[in-house]
Amino acid sequence: MKHVLITGGAGFIGSNFIQFILDSRPDLERLVNLDLLTYAGNLENLKAVERDSRYRFVKGDIRDRDLVERLFADYDFDTVVHFAAESHVDRSIVEPEVFLTTNIIGTQTLLDAAKRHWKQFPDDKYSRAYREGVRYLQVSTDEVYGALGETGLFCESTPLAPNSPYSASKASGDMIVRAYYQTYGLPANITRCSNNYGPYQFPEKLIPLMIHNAREDRPLPVYGDGMQIRDWLHVRDHCSAISAVLERGTAGEVYNIGGNNERANIEIIRLILRELGKPESLITYVKDRPGHDRRYAIDNTKITGELGWKPLYTFEQGMRETIQWYLTHADWIGRVISGDYRAYYQEMYGAIERP
Ligand code: NAD
Ligand code: TYD
Repeated sequence: MKHVLITGGAGFIGSNFIQFILDSRPDLERLVNLDLLTYAGNLENLKAVERDSRYRFVKGDIRDRDLVERLFADYDFDTVVHFAAESHVDRSIVEPEVFLTTNIIGTQTLLDAAKRHWKQFPDDKYSRAYREGVRYLQVSTDEVYGALGETGLFCESTPLAPNSPYSASKASGDMIVRAYYQTYGLPANITRCSNNYGPYQFPEKLIPLMIHNAREDRPLPVYGDGMQIRDWLHVRDHCSAISAVLERGTAGEVYNIGGNNERANIEIIRLILRELGKPESLITYVKDRPGHDRRYAIDNTKITGELGWKPLYTFEQGMRETIQWYLTHADWIGRVISGDYRAYYQEMYGAIERP
């Protein structure tokens, strides 16, 4: 792993991962972050690494075949970690199309470039020989499995049954990755992670939204009865799991990632209110999300048993740190909410031409 392409590195998990991998892999020589800077991409998340000589930012679209091909030719990637996506379920309900093009066609564009550049005999359609040490990692979600009832866990063999346009587009991306492994032998992995929390999450998602609203004494909108369950994982534990799959994962395998932290939404909202010393009267029950998945929960025995990965954060410690982070970064949230974070790109990179 010397020359790495990260897609979507200006988003929540991608920016945490870039920081994590630059810190933990001194042997890494070049890391290119390809990000379109949609509303969810924020280069302020990467201030700490932008002067690292190994790091390079490229503003561009994963659906742009010419650009992706050129980046492979210029940087000779041996590793791709594909985070870029439209990622918010509520947006996918209102505007599904961009989820399909980004999450499906964007994935195929990257796979095609990886196959072309990594195959030892690109013109031989029967050859399954690839350059030594190359790996494509598709960052996916537990939402592709659909919803659970009160019991049971998602394991890697659980049939895919996505319920939202977001999860359907992610499941489609996963299917294409599987097909490129089965048909062409492309050395690929898929990771399916549960809900992440931690620093730099866009405040349209549950935890940063609730912290922000509580801090400002605004109503906290709880969908339906608030008893939907998610299995929460600290973003840094997600980063270490991806790193473990890159280092030790078997090509063609899927790995579920989760930290055994099932919590009902209302429980999390009450915890945030307690930590901030705010009244429960801020809780406001609103109409439920259409097709709202009731419960997600991950069986993580494959990644813990086969790769020796385990999460380091307890939910209590992770949430305390996360709440503190958002409280001490109120200026970051303020710029995201006002849209001023977009000015940062202009200031930092406005004069730089696309390669
Ligand atoms: P995010 O929405 O915070 O960031 C997505 C990033 O992708 C942004 O920087 C955006 O600018 C970029 N992007 C979007 N479309 C692009 C395009 N066409 N070309 C290039 N860049 C583009 O998302 P996130 O929460 O960081 O999630 C990252 C990945 O992890 C996604 O694939 C998501 O499905 C998956 N995932 C997220 C969670 C979670 O809890 N957030 C859980 C499991 C899996
Ligand atoms: P979200 O952070 O959007 O993640 P996902 O839908 O991918 O799980 O939502 C997490 C849970 O919180 C989900 O059950 C929906 C619920 N939710 C609310 O009740 N109110 C809100 O304002 C938001 C954004 C989410």
